[in-house]
Amino acid sequence: MSSANVPFVELGRQYQGLRKEILETIDRVLASGQYILGPEVEAFEREAAEFCGVTHAISVANGSDSLWLSMKCLGLGAGDEVITAPNSFIASAWSIAAVDATPVFSDVDDTFNLDPAKLEQAITPRTKAIMPVHLTGRVANMDAIQDIATRHKLHVIEDAAQAIGATWRGKKAGSFGIVGSFSLHPLKNLAAFGDGGLVTTDDGKIAEQLKLLRNHGLKTRDESVIWGYNSRLDAVQAAVLRIKLRHLAAWNKASQGFAARYHAALDKVVTVPKPGDGEAPIYHRYIIQTDRRDELQKFLAGRGIDTKVNYPTPIHLQEAAAKLGYKKGSFPVAERQAGQILSLPLYPEFTQVEQDKVIENILDFFNGRA
Ligand SMILES: Cc1ncc(COP(=O)(O)O)c(C=O)c1O
Repeated sequence: MSSANVPFVELGRQYQGLRKEILETIDRVLASGQYILGPEVEAFEREAAEFCGVTHAISVANGSDSLWLSMKCLGLGAGDEVITAPNSFIASAWSIAAVDATPVFSDVDDTFNLDPAKLEQAITPRTKAIMPVHLTGRVANMDAIQDIATRHKLHVIEDAAQAIGATWRGKKAGSFGIVGSFSLHPLKNLAAFGDGGLVTTDDGKIAEQLKLLRNHGLKTRDESVIWGYNSRLDAVQAAVLRIKLRHLAAWNKASQGFAARYHAALDKVVTVPKPGDGEAPIYHRYIIQTDRRDELQKFLAGRGIDTKVNYPTPIHLQEAAAKLGYKKGSFPVAERQAGQILSLPLYPEFTQVEQDKVIENILDFFNGRA
């Protein structure tokens, strides 16, 4: 429970709405004696694949592993470059570095996603893949990105960790690239009660390889055909995720409704993330931009409203990325946005009363009624 009158998010609300069904399901799984992988996980994978509009979904231990194992699966390694966005969560670039490949950043545009107009300048003879990050639950311009990838014969690996159910021209996040990667972390739109991740693909060979990689290369209980890892999903998590998946479309719709209310109310005082034609974001985060971000955040905190900054330091300026040789000024748009972005409370179980309080206080701040 947050102490703010309007918490940034309150995960317990979703649980309360599903409590009986979840507890009965957990009880059933615990009684079954099958706790890792198995029928619940397989059923979840089938249902998740269907939801995402792909042939295969392979669950793993978390969203970072789903990116990292995808890199492994595609054979990316030392000497290879993968282009991605500098304004993501650290895991996007980490997964590239984790296979000894080099993360290469390219600046973003107003949508917080890779700017297709700048992308081609980052391509070198060593580039093997592009990793668009569908940040905030808004799908990157996949027509333009796929066109570039096709012309340069590059893989597209979608980091769709924040975008399950979001669409671009009617097609779901995670169904564009050779692989799509999702996080099922408790704060994500489809959330386990712990860590979880998912890879989507239409490629049967990649699906089989990922199943080996996530489970020590084991083809059968006693036969290991490649060196793999332990990155498996628990049956309890899968069973819970199956329940939640049935509500996801409605939850995303609720988030879209709250976003529309924010757009309409705040458009005149801040930059709002209004979707363009053909976009249906799911608002994992609702991020406004203003030159007065720090002042506004402090003001709202004083009025009991919790907000966050996702993310204050772009990846290319993180100490972990120092060896890549970027500096301040390398990606002006991402850097400017880092100083102006503010994530407002918005989640499916949010209420209009709470939202009105957020809106009223933001308008008070800008209209000098503070
Ligand atoms: C864009 C992005 N990529 C990757 C990840 C990594 O997912 P996980 O935390 O499940 O490892 C996250 C989650 O925080 C994310 O937001």
